Amino acid sequence: MKTYVITGATSGIGEALLKEFAGVGIVFAGYRNSQKVEKLKSYGENVIPFYIDMTKPDTISAAADFIKKKTGKIDTLINAAGCVVAGAVENLSAERLRYQFEVNTFSHLAFSQGLLSLLEGGKIINISSMSGFGIFPFISPYCASKRALDIIFNSLLIETGGRVKVVSIKPGVIATPLWEKSVEENFESLKEDKTYEKEMAFMAENALKNGKKGLDVRKVVEVVKKADSLKNPKSSYTVGRDAKLAEIFSKLPQDLLNTLIKAGLKARIK
Ligand SMILES: NC(=O)c1ccc[n+]([C@@H]2O[C@H](COP(=O)([O-])OP(=O)(O)OC[C@H]3O[C@@H](n4cnc5c(N)ncnc54)[C@H](OP(=O)(O)O)[C@@H]3O)[C@@H](O)[C@H]2O)c1
Repeated sequence: MKTYVITGATSGIGEALLKEFAGVGIVFAGYRNSQKVEKLKSYGENVIPFYIDMTKPDTISAAADFIKKKTGKIDTLINAAGCVVAGAVENLSAERLRYQFEVNTFSHLAFSQGLLSLLEGGKIINISSMSGFGIFPFISPYCASKRALDIIFNSLLIETGGRVKVVSIKPGVIATPLWEKSVEENFESLKEDKTYEKEMAFMAENALKNGKKGLDVRKVVEVVKKADSLKNPKSSYTVGRDAKLAEIFSKLPQDLLNTLIKAGLKARIK
């Protein structure tokens, strides 16, 4: 039986992966809200819930210690916890930017470092995003946190000489609660932003649509399963047509790309 560790296992992509892997392996499943522990346990007796809050370093090291006491080996660590910090850069506070990096980047590094001794010959699969291609204004904190995640972990892959395989999964828009949460967490307060009122209204509306029109989480599960099953997986996988297009666009010269992005925004935000 393989041993998996999944953060962000209480919702969306992480929960779908928990459901998949609980049938075939032991799964350590991360939660930040204790009310969701019963839900995690309902996925079977192979599930071992553990508490972790990606904004609190002491809980990250305690989570790694807890897992190390229970097992001597992890086959696959899946870093899936994440959130979206949105807003115009002009009014972005350093505090919000720091929060975004804590949840999406720094915490994953600290947790992975804490478990590295158990991951010899194993895999780290990060749920990154097409946002890491860096082409989406008004969610630049999110884009930057994912790009940083990819750069840091790709270095880990190279530096460890393949002792640990590292894979970045870059989904496009997936139908999960992430988008509704992002509206609650960002756009209610951003209504105050009078400089970018129209843009913020558009972003909120678009986020709510994303939560419904996105691809099914199964598409991400399929790609993660494939990467997990291969001895030598690719270091990066995009999921969805939008993610593939974002990758192609990101290779254009920056000024040409900026012109296209500005035209796209102008056409959509009236
Ligand atoms: N949905 C998409 O379109 C999409 C596209 C590309 C990439 N992704 C990435 O996929 C990953 C999973 O997102 P999702 O779409 O499945 O969203 P989701 O349904 O909101 O799941 C996010 C998970 O992260 C957990 N989480 C958030 N903040 C946390 C914190 N401070 N400490 C501990 N756990 C925390 C959430 O816990 P709670 O259940 O307590 O909220 C939840 O389990 C994220 O990294 C996201 O960036 C999503």
